[in-house]
Amino acid sequence: MPPLTTPAPGVRKMAFRCIACGDLSDSASKNFRCLHCGDLLEITYPRWKEAGPEAAKLKSTWRNRRLSSSAIDLSGVWRFRDLLPALGSDDQAITLREGNTPLYELPQCARITGVPRLFAKHQGLNPTGSFKDAGMTVAATFARLAGFRWVACASTGNTSASMAAYAARGGMRSLVLVPEGKISWSKLSQALDYGAVTCQLRTDFDGCLRLLQELVLRAPVYQLNSINPFRLEGQKTLALELLEQLDWQPPDHIIVPGGNLGNSSAIGKALIEMRDLGLISRLPKLSIIQAEGANALVRTLHEAAGKRLISVQAETRATAIRIGNPASWKKAVHVLEATGGACEQVTEIEIAQAKAEIGAEGIGCEPASAVTLAGLKKLVKRGFVKREESVVLVLTGNLLKDPDFTMGFHRGDLFKGTADESASAALNPLRRPPIVLDATLDAVMRALDQAEE
Ligand code: F0G
Repeated sequence: MPPLTTPAPGVRKMAFRCIACGDLSDSASKNFRCLHCGDLLEITYPRWKEAGPEAAKLKSTWRNRRLSSSAIDLSGVWRFRDLLPALGSDDQAITLREGNTPLYELPQCARITGVPRLFAKHQGLNPTGSFKDAGMTVAATFARLAGFRWVACASTGNTSASMAAYAARGGMRSLVLVPEGKISWSKLSQALDYGAVTCQLRTDFDGCLRLLQELVLRAPVYQLNSINPFRLEGQKTLALELLEQLDWQPPDHIIVPGGNLGNSSAIGKALIEMRDLGLISRLPKLSIIQAEGANALVRTLHEAAGKRLISVQAETRATAIRIGNPASWKKAVHVLEATGGACEQVTEIEIAQAKAEIGAEGIGCEPASAVTLAGLKKLVKRGFVKREESVVLVLTGNLLKDPDFTMGFHRGDLFKGTADESASAALNPLRRPPIVLDATLDAVMRALDQAEE
């Protein structure tokens, strides 16, 4: 079968646009901030207005590419390249066959929440175990095309794992800045294995990101945080693939965790572009859930009507979203407004419970992903999500990303010595602690009998 790599015509030119002052430019500064007002940039495709790609043609191009065996078509991100910044040639993409993630039904969680049409889009099944790969394949590719030898990011662990992998695949060096002692060993070990220069800084994620922003202005390194708008272009494909899986019938709700707020911004951008291009007829409501201890967006909306960021000193066991000063907050406020979505916060106990409930479906995710189910329960309670509506939860990271959390939960020591200790007893029925036994048939038979009781 010959590779099917023909691009749809008329969609290849891009520009950078400032989200605040609207300034349009063909190039971006090294920190991806507007040269006039300092705000964030987004990628836009000015020619779509006159010569927008035809929806039916795009859908059939993307479907046909699923039959292709070329590397670029086997990527669940680059398969949708007609809505991404253009490459000079297909072999320029640095790809690990990212994307192509499953959409699962969640029958037990559907019963728990009372929402029968409940699905999970599992981005944790990407090559490095998180949704970051969808953005990283695009941004790392453009870093190499721009001639950079070094790429760098600040991270709570998943961005750094992903960046290190794509840098290694693309023959680039990578520099990782992570908060010391605040990220899971699994994620840290990935960066080490993929050959990153890994710095554990004595600060939090926000401190790491601040430092990185200064560094990229001084040193010849390319910045791969989600401030980089190429990352968000890649992350858009989550929504494209999801809608394709749903035969282009939009769900009523999509629910995502919110940390630095890049992913929600990317998904929202994709939904708006799909609507504008006629790929879908209406917008799903995109809702963002944060941990109570890292609730900058919740507070920004409630206390400042979304007009200025209220940052917080972040603290949560869902370390992936332990972020108090989210860079993409303005983009997130925009997508909440454009799609009519809601923003909620959930407690540590609610996160632990939701994670165990998703796990009991045979679908493992990391704590930050479980905020989506915990948030859905609240959105149902307040009547924002109706029982008859369809809901997709975006599971952002794999269970194996944070085994300490899972072990702590099942062994019963996750909340030991904290204010939540007594309340956490309510979660005991969900715990499945390992049982240490003598190696005898009797002992194992007894364990089996007890489990039946
Ligand atoms: N879920 C997981 C598993 C994450 O790793 C992150 C962010 C988020 C959700 C939140 O996404 O930041 O786009 O709102 N992790 C980043 C990192 C910050 O460095 O790995 P967001």
